[in-house]
Amino acid sequence: MKFYITTAIDYVNQRPHLGTAYEKIGADCMARYKRLCGYDTYFLMGNDEHSTNVEREAKRKGLDTFEYCRRMSKEFQDVWKELSISYDDFIHTTEQRHITAVSTLFERIHENGYIYKGAYEGLYCESCEEFISEKDLVEGLCPRHKQQPVAISEENYFFALSRFEDRLLEHIAENPGFISPKIRENEVVNVIKGGLEDVSISRAGKSWGIPLPIDAGHVIYVWFDALTNYISALGYGADGDLFDRYWPADVHVIGKDITRFHCVIWPAMLMAGGVEPPRSIFAHGFISLGGEKMSKTRGNILDPSKMAGAFGPDGLRYLLMREVPFDRDGDISVETLLARYNADLANELGNLFS
Ligand code: MF3
Repeated sequence: MKFYITTAIDYVNQRPHLGTAYEKIGADCMARYKRLCGYDTYFLMGNDEHSTNVEREAKRKGLDTFEYCRRMSKEFQDVWKELSISYDDFIHTTEQRHITAVSTLFERIHENGYIYKGAYEGLYCESCEEFISEKDLVEGLCPRHKQQPVAISEENYFFALSRFEDRLLEHIAENPGFISPKIRENEVVNVIKGGLEDVSISRAGKSWGIPLPIDAGHVIYVWFDALTNYISALGYGADGDLFDRYWPADVHVIGKDITRFHCVIWPAMLMAGGVEPPRSIFAHGFISLGGEKMSKTRGNILDPSKMAGAFGPDGLRYLLMREVPFDRDGDISVETLLARYNADLANELGNLFS
């Protein structure tokens, strides 16, 4: 039996924080468990490089964008090693194998008649990398980033997502556990039942991205690009040995804020391209620190490498999974982690061993 598990690939405009690490640690536990059970396990992680924010951050540092991504790749992987994350492969969206897969999937979807050219007029949040509608703004700002969206008016290419409403609903109904936990499934079903609009999948006049195979004046929209990493790492569109062995993914582990991309757009892209959808998507919750969201501006960020240094990677893995069940939100503090470390690991387990 095989087990293919993935995590969301991270934008590289900042170093990994504890929230990012929490996702990788949770997925790592699942991968380690399946390996122990004897599954032929393949655990994929990676970096999402074609984002406007990445390009901007590289400029700010005076670096070539690709060069900047190489430095960040090392920083990320150094942290994952300190945390002892047992991934088998690490994909970057600037790699040739990824570009091949994205172009191939795009061409299949295009051949099958689900891509058309249209005019986009509306708003775009550059931090979400998402088109956003007026009704979702809070006081004129994107509610997630408290940032003003930019107005866009351009010709671009659309993916006919609206044609997949019935197939998606059927797929969810016929495959219990496709989306978990259940609360996320309910949200996704409501989104689909509310009606799906076609989504723009290209951006005009940009250069940082994968050129659209049918129109060199456009690059592929960063989410369409990023989602494809799950099959490009297996050689989709080229030598497909790994693809035959491991696809469909058994589980995509993601944060609960990106379910629409993974449970609606991604399965529809695959259906449109004639590829089997993943077996399941698991959306984890978020960690807060002392009751507050961790953020740079608040200055209440815990550095995962420092924590792995203090508790050891095994200790940190235990503490996070023990304190914050993977399927919901949870709060931690340095005090509760220390108390848990002393009680469960130093005293109980330590005493048991001695
Ligand atoms: N880079 C995105 C983020 O950090 C996640 C991409 S996940 C993928 O929010 F599936 F699209 F790859």
